[in-house]
Amino acid sequence: MGRAGFLAHHQIHRDVAALLIQDVEASMVVWAELAKYSRSSLWRVNPQASQRFLSTIRLVPTLPVRSHDMTNQVAVVTGAAGGIGAATATLLRDRGWLVAGVDLTPSTADSSHIVDLRETHAPTRLFDDVEARLGRPTALVNAAGLYRANGLLETTSDYASDVMAVNVTAPILLSRDLIDRAVRAKSGASIVNVTSVVGRIGSHDPAYGASKGALISLTKGLASSYGRSGVRVNAVAPGVIETAMSRTIPADRLGHYLDTIPEGRLGRAGEVAAAVGFLLSAEASYINGAVIDVNGGLA
Ligand SMILES: NC(=O)c1ccc[n+]([C@@H]2O[C@H](COP(=O)([O-])OP(=O)(O)OC[C@H]3O[C@@H](n4cnc5c(N)ncnc54)[C@H](O)[C@@H]3O)[C@@H](O)[C@H]2O)c1
Repeated sequence: MGRAGFLAHHQIHRDVAALLIQDVEASMVVWAELAKYSRSSLWRVNPQASQRFLSTIRLVPTLPVRSHDMTNQVAVVTGAAGGIGAATATLLRDRGWLVAGVDLTPSTADSSHIVDLRETHAPTRLFDDVEARLGRPTALVNAAGLYRANGLLETTSDYASDVMAVNVTAPILLSRDLIDRAVRAKSGASIVNVTSVVGRIGSHDPAYGASKGALISLTKGLASSYGRSGVRVNAVAPGVIETAMSRTIPADRLGHYLDTIPEGRLGRAGEVAAAVGFLLSAEASYINGAVIDVNGGLA
């Protein structure tokens, strides 16, 4: 086989590898091709080129987060004692994930971690603890959130920094620790941030609205920086969902939302969890940097 022949051969195998990257079970086919290839004359004539070819193929079976089988994969879900976090933890467990629930109070996840996410050292300790109890996480759902319906004139410096700490800084630091471990282990990883419709349209609570806008930017920035390392980072943007949080929305604003939402009702936590579960699944293997609205049509 000449150089042109080798390049064509190489390209075909890269294409096969790219297809099979979505289905680890089918990677057996790649290994069979590989065995044939290693017996070919090219292997003997040009071992360096063959080695480069092998390095592209070897990526295939090391991205379990893109597999269809989520059994015993570990996901960290923050806000797991709250409405959307608890619904997400339940849905993921039903799909075979081992779920580490993080919140200020216990959750019903496989392991429960009482953590105040305003503490900047919390993430590293948390990941060590999760790894010791369930195994190394390959998924993270940032669902913890702080909202107190404070208008601009009620916004204190403490409130603004608490909102930013829980809604933005904690997702940044947790993402850092998950991605660092995933890149070193070459395992792939997936992150879903729970932002909000107000991240796009603004909020009567400016600290909260700004924090959710920042989370959208974080999602897109990490997706673009780490996509080539097998890491997907996406977000869901709920509208108004029936949870403890939405019960603190001032009555006039809630009435306005109810008049405006085309579906004519508030959303349910399970409807947001379904979008999170989809984004973490193999079906979403080519979705990266996306923000999925779950808002009943609210503009
Ligand atoms: N409910 C809605 O209408 C709505 C709409 C858009 C976005 N969201 C977002 O969805 C996510 C989940 O909210 P929810 O509706 O389930 O509300 P929720 O109040 O039921 O849950 C939020 C959880 O975050 C936890 N949390 C808050 N501060 C924390 C801290 N310092 N450390 C650890 N945990 C902390 C709370 O204890 C709570 O369990 C939030 O990020 C919220 O901003 C909610």
